[in-house]
Amino acid sequence: MLLRGSEATMAQEKSLILFPLLVLVLLVLGCVQLSLGKESPAMKFERQHMDSGSTSSSNSTYCNQMMKRRNMTQGWCKPVNTFVHEPLADVQAICLQKNITCKNGQSNCYQSSSSMHITDCRLTSGSKYPNCAYRTSQKERHIIVACEGNPYVPVHFDASVEVST
Ligand SMILES: *[C@@H]1O[C@H](CO)[C@@H](O)[C@H](O)[C@H]1NC(C)=O
Ligand SMILES: *[C@@H]1O[C@H](CO)[C@@H](O)[C@H](O)[C@H]1NC(C)=O
Ligand SMILES: *[C@@H]1O[C@H](CO)[C@@H](O)[C@H](O)[C@H]1NC(C)=O
Repeated sequence: MLLRGSEATMAQEKSLILFPLLVLVLLVLGCVQLSLGKESPAMKFERQHMDSGSTSSSNSTYCNQMMKRRNMTQGWCKPVNTFVHEPLADVQAICLQKNITCKNGQSNCYQSSSSMHITDCRLTSGSKYPNCAYRTSQKERHIIVACEGNPYVPVHFDASVEVST
């Protein structure tokens, strides 16, 4: 009787310790999953603006396909977007190049010292979500990106400018 009673108490104590532990483990797992699932600003920049693999946008359906593939036609049609066809390292290096003011007035923008192969995608005027249709134009321009963080990397595409002579 007495023994059974104390066994029951021990079992109860065990579960009193184990339950908060379980909650803690679940919380930690949840946080890990959230942080893995969340896209960093640098990753977002790469998704929206980097296409190093191809040296150019070889065809007129490039923007229609790429805007969709890179998830910029979910919920709305992103109106303008630029893809850069240069190695990621060359684009990241812009953060060490010419420091200029961004369109929005912030001072963390940088202009590439060399011109780069880019493709501008612009939503056509007749296009209606969910049928996002884009005009594809290939250009060679100096690009301007905003950089942030540690490591200091591009997080925003600000503009492209004509090659100066
Ligand atoms: C056009 O460009 C897209 C995006 O790079 C590519 O997936 C597709 O194969 C190209 N189509 C042709 C016909 O080359
Ligand atoms: C686009 O979104 C889907 C799900 O919403 C995801 O599985 C996929 O990895 C995303 N693609 C890119 C390029 O981020
Ligand atoms: C260059 O960038 C730094 C860092 O964002 C900024 O604080 C500084 O004002 C900029 N300098 C110029 C000349 O724009």
